[in-house]
Amino acid sequence: MSRDSLTALPTLCLAGPVGHGKTTLVDRLHDEAGDPRAAMPEAKTSRLRTPRREWRLVDAPDERELLRDLVTGGIEGAAALVVVGVAGAAAARIGGMLAFLHMLGVRDAVVAVNRMDEVDWREDRYTEAGNALVAAIAPLALRSCTIVPVSARTGANVRSRAESAWWTGPTLAEALDALPVPVARVGGPLRVPVRDVLASGDALIAVGRVASGTVAAGHDVLILPSNRVARVVALVDRPAAHASATIGEDAHVALSADAVVERGDVLCSTDAPPKITSVFDADVRWLGDAAIAAGDALALLIGTREVGARVASIHHVLEASGARRPAAAVAAGDVARLTIRCALPVAVDDARMLQATGRFLLQDDGAIAGAGVIDASGYPDQRRTRPASGDIVPMRHQVGTPERESRAGHRGAVIWLTGLSGAGKSTLALALERRLFDLGWGVYTLDGDNVRTGLNADLGFSPSDRQENLRRVGEVAALFADSGIVCVTAFISPYRDERARARAAAGSRQFIEVWVRSPLEECERRDPKGLYAKARSGALKDFTGIDSPYEPPESADLVIDTEHLDIEASTRMLVDFVVASCRNPA
Ligand code: ADX
Repeated sequence: MSRDSLTALPTLCLAGPVGHGKTTLVDRLHDEAGDPRAAMPEAKTSRLRTPRREWRLVDAPDERELLRDLVTGGIEGAAALVVVGVAGAAAARIGGMLAFLHMLGVRDAVVAVNRMDEVDWREDRYTEAGNALVAAIAPLALRSCTIVPVSARTGANVRSRAESAWWTGPTLAEALDALPVPVARVGGPLRVPVRDVLASGDALIAVGRVASGTVAAGHDVLILPSNRVARVVALVDRPAAHASATIGEDAHVALSADAVVERGDVLCSTDAPPKITSVFDADVRWLGDAAIAAGDALALLIGTREVGARVASIHHVLEASGARRPAAAVAAGDVARLTIRCALPVAVDDARMLQATGRFLLQDDGAIAGAGVIDASGYPDQRRTRPASGDIVPMRHQVGTPERESRAGHRGAVIWLTGLSGAGKSTLALALERRLFDLGWGVYTLDGDNVRTGLNADLGFSPSDRQENLRRVGEVAALFADSGIVCVTAFISPYRDERARARAAAGSRQFIEVWVRSPLEECERRDPKGLYAKARSGALKDFTGIDSPYEPPESADLVIDTEHLDIEASTRMLVDFVVASCRNPA
């Protein structure tokens, strides 16, 4: 059977603890269908027939491999067949595994309580196991879950009815046939993670499996993370009449000669691209031998890219009851919400919007140690803005920087103040402006609230609006610095990457990042504009520190602790630092 005809079938994934009889049960299901297991070696999938259905069975020996097959196979919307031995059901702790499968889109499950022959088909043993399983499954809000007693060894209640008077429910095969059919997703924005790049004459051929959407000759695709557009010249692996490839299909995409593409890149729709970010939140199922804590380094595999990553913080661990428990470490078997920071920006989708490219695997010491689903909604897109036209030719000024500096008596610079609302950024910025002006310096302050009444009056406080706010301010501040002025900026600027981008915009100009630090409780106590109270009452959304994140600087040039220093001392510290950094060398 060809791979493509298998991928068209609804997917059933086999899950459950090792040693509870998964393999025997699947062999039994296959044998009784007269259809010996014909596994596709590369994909660990086989065709499984139940009386009324055919399934693509994802048949992995353990959970690590199951997660690998689901994530790298781009499998969405599977149903689960969970196998648990009757004696070990209570101790099997299938809750965490099923909670994470639910996050991967599994909505329906059949749980086979196996080895009933070993307990002589005793009803009380089945009831006891069933109760434990129901308690584990109940918090998950699965759409359907059927529990069925079986014996994989004898075949009882697998396809033919159990020889027991008390069981009046379905056989395993009947329960599988009664599952709602998972519907394969079609359409969606284009995503092709590039597995390989081949050169053919002048053309470059990007090879990968379509994870979402359709790629067709004549279309433009955006290549991420480099953010360049290329034209699809042809799909070289198929006849001209079938010049497109869709979800689940392998494609050889010939790109225009000027394309720059490498393994690990993603080909995307130009109008609905994924986000580029080096930081995101994720729900992670951790299966590594050692527990992980904030700061730990891992390798992250997303699409066809492997990138170094760190656990930036642990938000909570999900308990079996569904409750969220604060935690300092994530142990094997936990499902936890983490913030993950990658060494490089990567292309990510929110799993809620696009499962196929919204998930990843984690590796520890070269072995798969977990998987995660991405929630990047709190983080801005770090895509570089490119000139809308290619016909832009920058001009050189006739007045050079040394001339400007020698006339001004100081260097042009950006003094970038970041911190929570109410930390004292504006107060310090305006005091610095006053003192530098009194020294005869050229200085000007860009303040969040002021700039938002003019240049950025069109922007609100969503992550993308904040990003655009800071992009514009970073560019304007760089122009001020270039003109020889000391530009002081006072913006919350909550994202580390946006601050890094402002620094990059300043280029070779002096850029000083100042963290105006005050704890949230103190800012909330001050609440100079009454906005914290409004945010707590729910009348103001996306308020930094309340329901929108603030990422503290990791390496600010100067930290001013306004909780413990008064305004005068804070101002002096800032003025001294700026004067020492920006005055012309004598
Ligand atoms: S930033 O996040 O994009 O850097 P910016 O510094 O420009 O924010 O604007 C912050 C100011 O806008 C605050 O001092 C406050 O007066 C006002 N503001 C109004 N709504 C919000 C909000 N949801 N979050 C933060 N600040 C807000």
